[in-house]
Order: sequence, then structure tokens, then C-alpha cells
Amino acid sequence: MTKTRVLTGITTTGTPHLGNYVGAIKPAIEASQRPDVESFYFLADLHALIKCQDPRRVQQSRLEIAATWLALGLDTDNATFYRQSDIPEIPELTWMLSCVCAKGLMNRAHAYKAAVAENEELGHQDMDKGVSMGLFGYPVLMAADILMFNANKVPVGRDQIQHIEMARDMGGRFNHLYKGQYFTLPEAVVDDKVEVLNGLDGRKMSKSYNNTIPLFVSEKKLQKLVRKIKTNSLEPGEPKDPDSCTLFQIFSAFASAEETATMRTDYENGIGWGEAKDRVFEYLNVHLREPRERYNALLEDPGHIENVLKQGAEKARAEAQPLMERVREVAGLGRFV
Ligand code: TRP
Repeated sequence: MTKTRVLTGITTTGTPHLGNYVGAIKPAIEASQRPDVESFYFLADLHALIKCQDPRRVQQSRLEIAATWLALGLDTDNATFYRQSDIPEIPELTWMLSCVCAKGLMNRAHAYKAAVAENEELGHQDMDKGVSMGLFGYPVLMAADILMFNANKVPVGRDQIQHIEMARDMGGRFNHLYKGQYFTLPEAVVDDKVEVLNGLDGRKMSKSYNNTIPLFVSEKKLQKLVRKIKTNSLEPGEPKDPDSCTLFQIFSAFASAEETATMRTDYENGIGWGEAKDRVFEYLNVHLREPRERYNALLEDPGHIENVLKQGAEKARAEAQPLMERVREVAGLGRFV
């Protein structure tokens, strides 16, 4: 059976929240359990350096994200789980791809265009103010992440589709220039069934809006945060609309179909916000308790996490090295050392 290679990266700058879990982590762990899938999941710590120059935060976020995936049941015998910066072939390939990537393609990248638009808005003379080469060339590094492992499918959010198209462009161009099938051209997978959770204020849950509920906060903090979720001023006894309600949306992303249906009826029957919040808190708390305990135990043993990542890196490099050798060879570099 030829397996489908699924690959995705997680930038290590924040603390994972409920939205990350529902939108990315849960579907990825489920995919990794399928017999027809070979999965590559990695901590994109080289990407983290583009926006974060605080070494402690980079380190802390790496631990937290790795611990989160492991606590939620990622089986690392099954999936290849590694840290981007442990694979020196990735930055090496980044350079090779940079040399076949048109600068004009990078001019069109969303992240770069957003930075330019902001400079324009602020009336700056220099449109590239604050733009590092890391930010400008970020899609090349991302293409190397993907092409290095011949990924077929790359599950991403909508905002990342363009980067996968760019990776196809670079991979195709390299194949064409050096007349061979070195790289598989990847496809973006955007799952419309996967829910985009809203945050405390009702906008999309995102660290940039500062409205997240971190997955593994303490019980007390979780309760506090759930109580902060924005609702409206309807009194107990008044019917409420579940479909426009963030609290209901968060509940239904975790609960079973029946539990969700019961809650829906309770909304229609006018459950009070206080009671609804208590119930959502209780539900989340019960379901997060076990992985939270595993998470906390993992964080107390960073050596174990590092070992797991080291083994992942060995598996990943066993894939990356032979391809990098071919790429060097065909470009006329070979290897003397
Ligand atoms: N840029 C992606 C994000 O911000 C993270 C990422 C880095 C990634 N390398 C990748 C995602 C390769 C998929 C494949 O979400």
C-alpha cells in the first residue's frame, strides 16, 4: 500500500489553546492513526525566530507545544514528530530553493504584503521598514519543510494555502531545471468541517486577539476564563440562540452529538448564562483533566520530551539526508566532506 504523506508544522511562539486543539491538533492526531497515512509533524522553531527574538519564549513554547501533542495522545511510533531546527537539511534545501524562486513570487506573499500595507498606512517612506529577510523569504523555508519530505497533503488554515502553492511552484521549477522528479508537489488540505473556534470576545480565537482559552490552564483559571466568554443580556427563562453563541460553539466542539442536542434544547428553554457557563466549564474540565495531568507531568520532565524529539529527528533525517544528497549532486555540488 502506498501511504499518503501528511505533513504540518506548528510555529513555536505561543501556548496552545482550545482553538488550536479543535482546528489542528485533534484532526492531525486522528489522521496519524489511519493505516493509509504516514504523518510528519514538526515544531517550526526556525519560523518562530521570524517573529520572536526572545530565546526563553522560543524554548518554553517548544516544550509546551511538544508536551501538548504528546499529552493528547500523539503516538510517536506512528508519526514522525520532530523539531525543524534539528534537521540541518531543511535550511540547506531552503538555499537551493531560494536560487530557483523568483523574487517576484515572494513580493506577492500575504505576510510580506501585509507588512508593506501597514508601512504605507503609517505613512512611512520605506515600504520595507521592519521587514527582515526571514519574513520576506518565509515561504521558501516553508517550501523546504514540505518538499524535504515529499509530502502529499498539507493540512493548513486558509491563510496558508498560498504558501503551499508557492511550494508547488518551487518544487516544480527545481524538477524542471534539473530534469528529474526530485520533489513531490504538495496539496493544501483545508477541512471545512473542522471548526474555527471563537474566543472570549466572540472573534476568532487567536493569540493575536488575546482572547484565547489555553488548553491546559489550571481548573480555577479555566473556570474564570469560561465565565469571561461574552454572552448577551438575556435573563434566565428567556429563550437563547445557540447558533450565534460562542459558549455553545465551544461546548459543541467537545461534546457528543447527543450532549449538544440536549444543550440546544436547554438554550431554547431559557437556561441562564451562569448555569450554562458552569456546565460548559464542568464539561471541559472533566475532559481535559487527564491530558492536563499528563501535560503537567511531561513539562516536569523536559529531558523526556527532548529525547522523544531527538528520536523523531533521527527518523526525519533518515528521510531528508538521501534526498538532500541527490539535490546537491544534481546541482553540481556533490560532497567532499
Ligand atoms: N507557517 C505555518 C503557520 O504559521 C507553520 C508552518 C511552518 C507550516 N512550516 C510549515 C505549516 C510547513 C505546514 C507546512 O501556521
